[in-house]
Amino acid sequence: MRILLLGNTGQLGWELERTLASLGEVQALDYPTINLAEPDSLLSVFQHIQPQVIVNATAYTAVDRAEGETDLVYAINAAAPGLIAQEARRIGAAFIHYSTDYVFDGTKGSPYIESDPPHPLDVYGQSKLEGEQAVEQAGGAALILRTSWVYSLRRDNWVTKVMAWARQRKSLRLVNDQISGPTWARLLAEVTAQVLAKAGRDPYGWLAERRGLYHLAGAGYCSRLEWGQAILQLDPHRQEHIVEEILPASSVDFPAPAPRPLFSALDCTRFNEVFGLQLPDWKTALQLAMSELQRPGELH
Ligand SMILES: NC(=O)c1ccc[n+]([C@@H]2O[C@H](COP(=O)([O-])OP(=O)(O)OC[C@H]3O[C@@H](n4cnc5c(N)ncnc54)[C@H](OP(=O)(O)O)[C@@H]3O)[C@@H](O)[C@H]2O)c1
Repeated sequence: MRILLLGNTGQLGWELERTLASLGEVQALDYPTINLAEPDSLLSVFQHIQPQVIVNATAYTAVDRAEGETDLVYAINAAAPGLIAQEARRIGAAFIHYSTDYVFDGTKGSPYIESDPPHPLDVYGQSKLEGEQAVEQAGGAALILRTSWVYSLRRDNWVTKVMAWARQRKSLRLVNDQISGPTWARLLAEVTAQVLAKAGRDPYGWLAERRGLYHLAGAGYCSRLEWGQAILQLDPHRQEHIVEEILPASSVDFPAPAPRPLFSALDCTRFNEVFGLQLPDWKTALQLAMSELQRPGELH
């Protein structure tokens, strides 16, 4: 299988580069070699590589900064995925794209299913929704995997931030009114690779029969406070913490340029039924992720 991976330095892309490797030949490209803000540059890449599968792990993900960079955000998150999907269909390549729980406004009160009406609260969510729509309109063999609260042990995310704060501050205030499903980028990448392994020698035909929108996130859900408490409890280097108390806070205590949905957990039943795969409970995944931080002498 010849796979073109777009975005291999991000949280998910970095893991994908590793998990896709067992499927065949992976060409991984990132900014500035490719620039999704100027997607015409991608077309020559597609011609040159002639991929059978294109996996797009790129996105403009800085939710607050997005409010002030609307044109750039829409170019990367909405226009470019649509163009990639069109070109993928033209060259007969299957396409895997990722989207977000931030397409919802968070008022449903129970996990969202794929047919729930989206209603983004911010520029990032609206741009990702338009990206989904552009990919769907292009037709072809495209899977759109909506996920939530992605973390890894690299880059800036809730896990790395909470671990850093615990080493810098005696008191932490974490919001308990934002609720969703934490998703370890490693497992999201592994499930993506397993889908492609099931597709076998005809990824276009196999995925065309299953094309469409799916929710795929860590099972269960929690608040950012509960997530933060679990991170600190599972940190193998707790002796480095100086934090003495963790207090509940509310989103209004931390005014931000972009509003967040308050309850945006995703129901992943459809993905499980169609592909026979699922992500484990968010806490089990977090435990696996955090155990990677053990140093060689601590392993048993
Ligand atoms: N992070 C979350 O909590 C979350 C939640 C729900 C859904 N998602 C979705 O999951 C997917 C993966 O997210 P992630 O957390 O892995 O994102 P990430 O860590 O922010 O990585 C984004 C990737 O996109 C690249 N990129 C940004 N602008 C680009 C441009 N103009 N041209 C080419 N590449 C560009 C980045 O390159 P640089 O490294 O050079 O910046 C990076 O490789 C995205 O579709 C995202 O919307 C994420």
